[in-house]
Amino acid sequence: MELQKIECGKEDYMSILLLADPCIKMIKRYLTDGDLYIYQHGAVTAAVAVLYPLEDGGCELKNIAVLENLQGKGIGSAFLRLIMGEASKKFTHMLVGTTSQTQGFYKSLNFQYSHTIPNFFVDNYPEPIFENGIQCVDMRCFSIKL
Ligand SMILES: CC(C)(COP(=O)(O)OP(=O)(O)OC[C@H]1O[C@@H](n2cnc3c(N)ncnc32)[C@H](O)[C@@H]1OP(=O)(O)O)[C@@H](O)C(=O)NCCC(=O)NCCS
Repeated sequence: MELQKIECGKEDYMSILLLADPCIKMIKRYLTDGDLYIYQHGAVTAAVAVLYPLEDGGCELKNIAVLENLQGKGIGSAFLRLIMGEASKKFTHMLVGTTSQTQGFYKSLNFQYSHTIPNFFVDNYPEPIFENGIQCVDMRCFSIKL
């Protein structure tokens, strides 16, 4: 698997970015200044991720998504391991905000629970967000040293 960093035309990847974040306005906010990485498999963009620099020397994983029909095959974890390797050249740690539904993915990669931001998904999104029929309310943040 090889990572590609996208410098131009970042919005061309909007449809796959929307799998991890349903709000185009929010995505545009971090896409401009964030680093967009993709895993291109032939003609298919199989995975995307956006890293955003933090003021404390770390970075935040703002978005990570694997194409729906390729999920659950180990691509997301392999991709995120490569992203962490790349990020370790520039950043001290990686933070990620999750819903209670997706935290298992990060725990499986040794991210540690850091803190919770109450009502984040209610206060920051124009529409309620549901995952597997459950409304997302608080954001649970995990981090890992790079
Ligand atoms: C979350 C996502 C990136 C994971 O990628 P993936 O290729 O499906 O994950 P993998 O196959 O590498 O799975 C790795 C581990 O994480 C777990 N996992 C994967 N997706 C999960 C989810 N949504 N919830 C809980 N655990 C999950 C798997 O069970 C697996 O654990 P195991 O190694 O013990 O079997 C992918 O499912 C996705 O794009 N989901 C939609 C977008 C999204 O929710 N992004 C995250 C926003 S916070």
